[in-house]
Amino acid sequence: NSIERLNFTSWRQTSSSNVAVKKETTRRKDEAEPVDERKSFYMLQEERQEQAERSVLISCSHKITEKRFLNYLSRHGDINTFFFYESFGVYAVVEFSKKESVASLQDGASIPSIEHEATVPFKSRLLSLKLNNPVDQSGSQPSVQCLPQSPVPISELIQKLSKADSIDQQLYTLTDTYELTEESIRLRFLVCSLLKDIAAAYFPECTVRPFGSTVNQFGKLGCDLDMFLDLDAISGRNLKKTAGAFSLEYQMKRVSSERAATQSILSVIGKCIEQFGPGCVGVQKILNARCPLVRFAHQPSGFQCDLTANNRIALKSSELLYLYGSLDRRVRALVFSVRCWARVHGITSSIPGAWLTNFSLTVMVLFFLQKRNSPVIPTLDRLKELAGPMDKVTIEGNDCTFVSNLSKINVPENTETLEHLLQEFFEFYANFAFGRLSINIRKGKEQNKPDASPLHIQNPFEPSLNVSKNVNQTQLERFVELAKESSWILAQGESRSPSRTGDQAWGLAALLLPSVSQPGKSRKRRKREPASERIKSLLESLKTNKLHGKT
Ligand code: GTP
Ligand code: MG
Repeated sequence: NSIERLNFTSWRQTSSSNVAVKKETTRRKDEAEPVDERKSFYMLQEERQEQAERSVLISCSHKITEKRFLNYLSRHGDINTFFFYESFGVYAVVEFSKKESVASLQDGASIPSIEHEATVPFKSRLLSLKLNNPVDQSGSQPSVQCLPQSPVPISELIQKLSKADSIDQQLYTLTDTYELTEESIRLRFLVCSLLKDIAAAYFPECTVRPFGSTVNQFGKLGCDLDMFLDLDAISGRNLKKTAGAFSLEYQMKRVSSERAATQSILSVIGKCIEQFGPGCVGVQKILNARCPLVRFAHQPSGFQCDLTANNRIALKSSELLYLYGSLDRRVRALVFSVRCWARVHGITSSIPGAWLTNFSLTVMVLFFLQKRNSPVIPTLDRLKELAGPMDKVTIEGNDCTFVSNLSKINVPENTETLEHLLQEFFEFYANFAFGRLSINIRKGKEQNKPDASPLHIQNPFEPSLNVSKNVNQTQLERFVELAKESSWILAQGESRSPSRTGDQAWGLAALLLPSVSQPGKSRKRRKREPASERIKSLLESLKTNKLHGKT
């Protein structure tokens, strides 16, 4: 019937019209996507942002059937794509072909009248589907398929990796298992777009842009959602004075600094999110941080959100990471695996503190890849040389220019295997002169450390800043110790050979076993028992924990 044709064919059209997605499935795992097929970072962001503007988020009952739901919604216009997921109930993301359909849908929605309670009549694109005749629907079998929004447990990942044929394959499997899905990215852009609607009450021309791991290609399912309120595009900023006798200027409140302006804007928007934002809970205003932010949980999506303002440099950093991740398939695989390894062993944490952040760790991987005899990726200075006139950009006095057209960058000639790169990564940092040297991806060379901080990683766009300033000596030593251990485990023959039965953790899986990080277990002591025995017993204990629900 017509609804099936309308919705289900349009879903297929969307996926097959996306060349990048289609090619991915036919390409071998170890092959990089041809660079010129990739869209530039900004094109991709704009495209997703525009899709989000045409989308709505609807809380549904478990009882609905997909067909009837879509049938009901398509009265407002053609639906491009849709999907369901679960987060304290079933939700649907529905993208219409035209923005007018969203307006039409909102026109037909009612404001709830709740006894003994009142509502703030703020109309958003977060809606609830109500069953007018629940009895009527009860006969139909629920046919909604919910897509996962969180990563598989580590024990499951270890088992999956143990079944792989090679360490290279293990790194690719880890990446495939953990990376953000197309749907999760869509949902993230939609949440930004919903928040934009709130901020637009004050600043109608504003945009809320995601940055960090949502857009840099290194995001893991379930990672936080970093956003910034972009007011730079508000018209009239750099308007040239007209030739006539007069010109008009807005009268505006003056504040002492950019920072003070950012703080007062975030304070007000934070209050709005707290008081009017449907689904936004636990709002914290952290305005005295180096980068002031509003932190909250967006319940319908399940995302932990950080909203900042005036944060263009962070978006540029995300673009740089995106670019590096697009150049060679090995980059993402290595970053995902190292991030996972670090998280498992408590080298990184979701709680802010003196440990390494994912961002610092990623820069360390990139630096290592630049330092190979035949570099895997170019330096930031090289990317700057390749920049075209449109790429020139200065943010807060910092030159943030680098090439955006991926096809201008020569595909690197390095052919090292991931197994080798992983081993060398651990070896490289196990022996790095952290006491004397600073990590610098702009030059692709170590520099003398400008200060006494234990770990110095030069901020690529603000050279006077150290992105790992928070890391203390103890945490750095833990990282180095673990790098040594992991390098040693990889060097053992036992960890190299895939197990025939797939129930023994080997290779990368062996590095993810929890007790590698147990304090007090030194390398020497480990040598007393063969690696295969140790790994076997660790896997056994893991299985036991799983049985007892402790993993
Ligand atoms: P997750 O841990 O998966 O959230 O990774 P992430 O890359 O999103 O990191 P995070 O949420 O901590 O930070 C978001 C973005 O802010 C990063 O991608 C960087 O662009 C930027 N950022 C984070 N930490 C620093 C820092 O110490 N210095 C600078 N200059 N930028 C940072
Ligand atoms: Mg983040």
